[in-house]
Amino acid sequence: MAKTLGVPRPDQASYMLRAASEDAGRAYKRQLLDLLDLRPGHTVLDVGCGPGTDLPALAERVGPTGRVIGVDQDPAMLATARELTAAVSTVSTVEIRETDAHALPVTPGTVDRARIDRVLMHVRSPAEVLAQLHAATRPGALVGLVEPDWDTLVVDAEDLETSRAFTRYTTEKVVRHATVGRRLARLAVRAGFRVETTTATTPVFTDFEHGDHTLGLGRNMQQAIIDGHIDRKRGEAWFAGLAHEPFYASFTLVTVVCSRP
Ligand SMILES: C[S@@+](CC[C@H](N)C(=O)[O-])C[C@H]1O[C@@H](n2cnc3c(N)ncnc32)[C@H](O)[C@@H]1O
Repeated sequence: MAKTLGVPRPDQASYMLRAASEDAGRAYKRQLLDLLDLRPGHTVLDVGCGPGTDLPALAERVGPTGRVIGVDQDPAMLATARELTAAVSTVSTVEIRETDAHALPVTPGTVDRARIDRVLMHVRSPAEVLAQLHAATRPGALVGLVEPDWDTLVVDAEDLETSRAFTRYTTEKVVRHATVGRRLARLAVRAGFRVETTTATTPVFTDFEHGDHTLGLGRNMQQAIIDGHIDRKRGEAWFAGLAHEPFYASFTLVTVVCSRP
């Protein structure tokens, strides 16, 4: 049956947990965890922790003398995060706080490690959030930043021009700071950090349903057509064609680990 546009938004909290458990999600998250060099007793901050995907692993590394602070502005995400961390809260202190990343609720200079994973692309001002992180961390602290670069989104289709138009629409109209991934090192240095490592990974989607959910193919194509950016006939044919042949889509995810001098 032909695929039609306008797939509804999945439940975001459970969707993010599922995405994180898949190969591409697991690989970069584990790499970041290792690069952050967490030690027992550390205070670690997860900015935009979402459904708490990474909080149990952070709690395990900082142990009973450590402290994990997860912040997010979305109460529904935080409800899932509380459920997910209920068991680990007995092992180390896990605090979950509803707050905006532009106003981090921590005593300045007290954070040993921090991570911000696919959040800067959404915030009002990535530079302000990094300034907040700089104030929150102590000298010698390590901060891990992970963001996609949506200019690198490729979707295989017979109609290459429409794939290119879809990527352009995503970067220009859908994601607030779509190219923040490539700018991470520059932004970090401007905020007063020193860049320790810069790496990139390429999540690959070979399953149409998974790619559609994660990349918003049907949802965003429908909006691009409504907005007059892509011709309806071409856009609908492009989307319908994706489900019929082997599927390939990918994008680049940039990880920068920096230190607070
Ligand atoms: C793509 S999810 C990533 C969640 C989590 N970091 C992970 O890797 O699973 C983005 C999260 O950023 C949060 N977020 C976006 N803007 C925010 C802001 N200004 N302050 C706090 N959280 C924000 C959203 O509520 C959402 O939970």
